[in-house]
Amino acid sequence: MSEGFFVNTQMEDNLSKHAEVKKITVNNIKNMKHKEKIVCLTAYDYTSAKIIDESGVDLILVGDSLGMVMNGYESTIPVTVDEIIYHTKSVKKGIKRAFLVADMPFGSYQISDEQALTNAVRIIKESGAEAIKLEGGKEFAPLVKKMVKMGINVMGHIGLMPQQVLAEGGYKIQGRHNEEKLIEDAIALEEAGVFSIVLEGVVDEVSKKITEKISIPTIGIGAGIHCDGQILVFQDIFGMFDDFVPKFVKQYANVGKIIKEAAMTYCKEVKSSEFPEDKHSFKR
Ligand code: KIV
Repeated sequence: MSEGFFVNTQMEDNLSKHAEVKKITVNNIKNMKHKEKIVCLTAYDYTSAKIIDESGVDLILVGDSLGMVMNGYESTIPVTVDEIIYHTKSVKKGIKRAFLVADMPFGSYQISDEQALTNAVRIIKESGAEAIKLEGGKEFAPLVKKMVKMGINVMGHIGLMPQQVLAEGGYKIQGRHNEEKLIEDAIALEEAGVFSIVLEGVVDEVSKKITEKISIPTIGIGAGIHCDGQILVFQDIFGMFDDFVPKFVKQYANVGKIIKEAAMTYCKEVKSSEFPEDKHSFKR
């Protein structure tokens, strides 16, 4: 937990409802490199965002992974700018402390710079996100530069890029044969002005080299132990999504099982008229 983010009380009190919470900014995220690990997690709705914000997560991402875990799509490809804005607006309302980033979905920034800038501006203005994230390496550096010049905080995302699933023919771990390209991408993105870079599905040795070479934080997901921070998907770490569980996921709770058991008890009690009881009824 960073010193200075909470005012007047100790950590436990800080996490209670009445603590005065200091909002994390882009500068706080950048300054955490070499000082403390950056904790990032995805969220897609108000209730979940509020819970994880109060837990002390530093950065919340409304990822295009919402396509799979919220909408049941097979990949992130179908996700639209409108869907990102819809979910980010809800998440925003639940956050007091964490820095809020929203993904630019597939097709929203690749057609032209004009289209990309228009969509980035829409996401920032309409959703309340404090930054956007986009997948891509040095080929997107000129676009990133334009966004940064406009005042938009940009987070990079290299390595395994789920929006390339069709072109790649699957989800492939990166860095075994393209180390130089990944390092060049990271340097180009840093020079273009991103405040941080997600390294997804990258072999640990290469993540380590990138993390040492650049002066902005790297945030790993399946990228080993050397990154400056970590990010996981909400439904993965809480055991709520078992369509596919990648090797890099650590499940911190099995909320899916708890919900299923509770729902089964509810079904049983309604069928048997155990619920509702008299105490749940209103009287004249
Ligand atoms: O869409 C997403 O959730 C992401 C993270 C997993 C990095 O891009």
